[in-house]
Amino acid sequence: MERRLIVCDNLDELGRRSAELFVSLAREAVASQGRFSVALSGGDTPKALHSQLQSDAYAPRVPWSDVYVFWGDERYVPHDHPDSNYKMARATLLDQVPIPEENIFPVPTGMGDAELDADQYQETVRSFYSLNEGEQPQLDLVVLGMGEDGHTASLFPDTAALKNSSGIVVSNYVEKLDAHRVTFTVSAINQASFVVFLISGASKASALKEVLEGPHQPNRFPSQFVQPENGKLLFLVDSEAARELTAMGER
Ligand code: 6PG
Repeated sequence: MERRLIVCDNLDELGRRSAELFVSLAREAVASQGRFSVALSGGDTPKALHSQLQSDAYAPRVPWSDVYVFWGDERYVPHDHPDSNYKMARATLLDQVPIPEENIFPVPTGMGDAELDADQYQETVRSFYSLNEGEQPQLDLVVLGMGEDGHTASLFPDTAALKNSSGIVVSNYVEKLDAHRVTFTVSAINQASFVVFLISGASKASALKEVLEGPHQPNRFPSQFVQPENGKLLFLVDSEAARELTAMGER
């Protein structure tokens, strides 16, 4: 597994560099396999990517008709709820670009049971990738954020989802949030061709130091579970988030 660290001066540069990455991976995937599948992340940091991607600087360079969008995780709320990752992505990106509706695969949250909706989403993913039981999808790109506790997607420290090594999508009850989530599993994320973490701000510096330079303790810092088996891993961070790191990373 190739792991790279790029330190950006600020969030704006992080947005531009992540948009460049998205464009180049999308164009490469469409040219070689006719489609580009990506799992978006929730939270605030990916908005820097979205705002660049929907701008005239990048949107015209993306083959939107061959881009297929999933979510790496979702809060178990209605799609019109302020906390919905789907709502955020539509508002900050998908409603602003010419992506066909049929290319967008939101996590269902309407059955009133996160486990049932997770199973439903798992079947959607299986069908898209024509997978047999036990097989994992190979997304072209998984976009991730990281919390101050080192969580990523909805893989939170010491939660049940961390133990699921065979599924693709699982529900996960997060006690400290008293909230149900739906998330890709570590196994599914680690099959991706490319995984990029977008991490910004001083509040992430301590966790990022632990994840990148601390002992391997993924149950405490689940971002450490992300180790693509055959893919590439990039930590795209700003200088505030990187301020406790020993490694300087690339510029
Ligand atoms: C979510 C995300 C979550 C997020 C981190 C970082 O649904 O909230 O998937 O894993 O990426 O909490 O969020 P920020 O980018 O807002 O700091």
